[in-house]
Amino acid sequence: MPDRDWWTVLWPDPAGLLLSLGVAPGMTVLDLCCGDGYFTAPLAKIVDGRVYALDLDPAMIEMARAEAEQEGVSVLKWIIADAGEISRLIPEKLDLVLIANTLHGVPDQPGLVQAVAKTLRPGGVFAIVNWHPVPREQTTVLGHPRGPKTDMRMPPEAVRAVVEPAGFHLITLIDLPPYHYGMTFERA
Ligand SMILES: C[S@@+](CC[C@H](N)C(=O)[O-])C[C@H]1O[C@@H](n2cnc3c(N)ncnc32)[C@H](O)[C@@H]1O
Repeated sequence: MPDRDWWTVLWPDPAGLLLSLGVAPGMTVLDLCCGDGYFTAPLAKIVDGRVYALDLDPAMIEMARAEAEQEGVSVLKWIIADAGEISRLIPEKLDLVLIANTLHGVPDQPGLVQAVAKTLRPGGVFAIVNWHPVPREQTTVLGHPRGPKTDMRMPPEAVRAVVEPAGFHLITLIDLPPYHYGMTFERA
């Protein structure tokens, strides 16, 4: 998980980012691989607590939980598990699943996408935030190169290639300056 000092500089407006990806009041959503919860509390605010948050790392979930408490927001369930387990662990069909800054490092990407498809309702949205596939040396924040190794970064075409076979179609591809892009897919 990136340090908060440069993460905050990179993402000064997490709520704005979420709204630009289609998160809206009234939805029930999942912050998949939520890390220390940088996006979880803003998500919870938008959907009035109708958010699940999952991460493999118990320490991350504890940090995310503490932040949500500090921000005075609630979460439906904190889940410590592998992302591929979600369809078994979440007891309802969701309107939107967010995965931010993580898909590039998931070993079984098709398996994860299948699990997301099972967890979303028909017409539900899979929202993905990724680093642009540019050399790491070029993605500096506070004077240092940041983000995943260059060879791990996924271009949008690679994301489409892994997501669409599971029954999704692309809705939006947006630039998230300075170094990211966002994609949303609708589940058939
Ligand atoms: C780079 S952090 C991103 C956190 C958050 N989404 C954000 O953008 O601020 C990646 C997180 O994904 C989690 N993670 C990686 N692989 C996972 C998996 N297979 N299942 C669940 N969590 C996973 C890690 O524990 C880590 O907290």
